Parts: sequence; C-alpha cells; structure tokens
Amino acid sequence: MKIKSKIISTGSYLPAKILSNFDLEKIVDTTDDWIVERTGIKNRHIAAENELTSDIAFEAAKKAIENSGIPAEEIEMIILATTTPDLTFPATSTKVQAKLGAKGAFAFDIQAVCSGFVYAITVADNFIKSGQVKNALVIGADVLSRIVDWKDRNTCVLFGDGAGAVVLQATTDENSGIMAASLHSDGFLNDILKTSGGTSSNQKSGFIEMAGKEVFKHAVEKMSKSVTSTLEKAHLKVSDIDFMVPHQANARILSAVANRLELPQEKVILTVENHANTSAASIPLALDSANSQGKFKKGNVLVLEALGGGLTWGSVVLKW
Ligand code: ACO
Repeated sequence: MKIKSKIISTGSYLPAKILSNFDLEKIVDTTDDWIVERTGIKNRHIAAENELTSDIAFEAAKKAIENSGIPAEEIEMIILATTTPDLTFPATSTKVQAKLGAKGAFAFDIQAVCSGFVYAITVADNFIKSGQVKNALVIGADVLSRIVDWKDRNTCVLFGDGAGAVVLQATTDENSGIMAASLHSDGFLNDILKTSGGTSSNQKSGFIEMAGKEVFKHAVEKMSKSVTSTLEKAHLKVSDIDFMVPHQANARILSAVANRLELPQEKVILTVENHANTSAASIPLALDSANSQGKFKKGNVLVLEALGGGLTWGSVVLKW
C-alpha cells in the first residue's frame, strides 16, 4: 500500500507585543491608509528583546505536539524553516529539539526565506513517503524584526514575527494527506529580494532590501503557475480547491493570484491583516488559525503556496 503523509495537528505562537500602523506612523513617514491600501496589513507582532527564533519555534511546536497526542519522544525528524537562526550554528532546530525533549529525532534547518515552510513540508513528505520516518515535526519560525531597517518605510511596514508548526504522520488512507508538491528557484533573481549582509560576506546579518514592484510581478505569475502545475500532478482542478493557504505577504498579491486562477476570494485564508509577513511562519500560522476555528473538514482540498527571496517558490496540494 502507498504511504503518504498527513497533517495530524497544528500549533502556533505570536509574540505578545503588537505594533500597529499607527505606531509605525510615529517611527517612519507613513500612514495607516497607505499601508492598508497597498498591503492589507494593520498590525504585526514583534518579539521581545530576549525572545529568539528557538523560543517562538518551541512554543508553536509544543502546541502542535500536544494537539497531536504523540509524545515528543516519538517525533523522528524536526525540520525548522527559518531565515533568522539564533546563531550561525548550531542549527536552531537542534535547540528546539532539546527544549522539546525530542530525544528520538534528528533535526535540521532549511533556509528558503518566505518559501521555507513549503520547502520543509515537501522534504518531510519525501522522508515519510520513502518509509524512513513515521512522525515528523515541521516548523516555520522567523524574527524578521531583527533584520528590518526600521528607518526604511519601503520595507519596515511589511513584516512581523511569529511561528507555526505541524505534525506530519505516515498514512495509507487514500483520501487524505499530501497529494503533490512542486519546488522551484531562480538564482538569477537573487538581487530583487535580499539582505545587505551575512556570515561569509561581512559578518553582519544586514537588512532586508527589496525591489517591491518586481517581487510583486514575479509572485503573482510564479505562484499561480506553480499551483496550476501541482494541481495537475495531483489530477485535480482549481474548482476542486476548498481552501488556499498562501504565504501571507500582502493581501493584493493574494487576491491577484486568486483572480488569475479564477478561485473565489472567500476560499483564500487571510491572516496578513494582523500578522503581516512572517516569512516561513506565515503558512503554518494561517493553517493553525483556520484549523483552530474548525474551518477544515476531512477530505477538504488545501493548496499551500509561497514565493520568497532567491527567488524560491512552490506549492503543495493536500487532502485534510
Ligand atoms: N508609506 C508611505 N509611502 C510609502 C511607503 C510607506 N510605507 N513605502 C513606499 N512609499 C512611497 C514610495 O516612496 C513611493 O513614493 P514616490 O512615488 O514619491 O517615489 C510611493 O509610495 C509608491 O511606491 P511604490 O514602491 O511604487 O509602491 P507600490 O505600489 O509598488 O507598493 C509595495 C509597494 C507594497 C511594497 C508593493 O510593491 C508590494 O507589495 N510588493 C510586494 C513585495 C512584498 O510583499 N514583499 C514581501 C517579501 S516577498 C514575499 O513575501 C512574496
């Protein structure tokens, strides 16, 4: 019988501090109206000074494991998608492993910026499908506030901090689990979304730099194409989609992708208004938000999709 992997639980964590657009008006030359009209964002959460990626990743993971009913010792693999690791090394996922007491797991980080969660869940799916792992923990966590230039109004209004996690489990149920996935990257587009520093260049993490209009154009085109091709692999059509759970970059990007696919807007899960862009955390945060409201029913077709620095992009089609 064919093995697939299925999301059996979700969890998430948002730092306590909320920074509103009105707070940002006091920091840079911007307005609530401008930010809402261009991005749909009203609020974002900001990690406390002593709160690291491993801390928020742990909180989200702890909830996902509690909700799964599986003891932490039975998790065999932990993948953490992040662009803001605690340290250059060791991998932040190993710190999370220790905090969870997940003694039976191996752990590693994946860095694909805003596409990180889609990359991580696809890698975990392959470990499960090949029979090497039965229970996997996949986390997306980022503290982007540490790499945002708070003097640059073009970028600082867009991002927030947070973490989300899922437990994936092997299943032989033909009517649930991950049906298909596609990952892509184009390194020729490195420069349109990057940081101004890094470990092997100048030892400073640097700030986010972005050619906003270019990124917007690629995001709409590439994410819609990726969704279409992943649906084809799964032998499904756009009309089969019950919910789209996209990377929450910007409400305008998400509605443009839905329009291009001719997907009704009400099928798109939107959390960007209060989370902003939390990079690798945004999809698992949106999944947990909708799941805890009881939106997903068994057998529902969900599509996850993201695009981020690299450029990297991809999509996953699954049955809940
Ligand atoms: N407040 C007020 N004015 C601003 C702000 C701000 N926060 N930021 C920029 N402006 C000004 C600009 O300076 C410019 O002024 P000018 O005409 O006097 O030069 C004007 O607004 C228009 O700027 P544009 O950059 O042309 O605005 P645009 O309509 O492209 O919107 C935005 C900018 C929201 C960044 C848009 O390009 C976008 O959404 N890009 C997608 C990028 C994104 O979401 N990236 C996230 C990371 S990648 C990902 O996750 C997919």
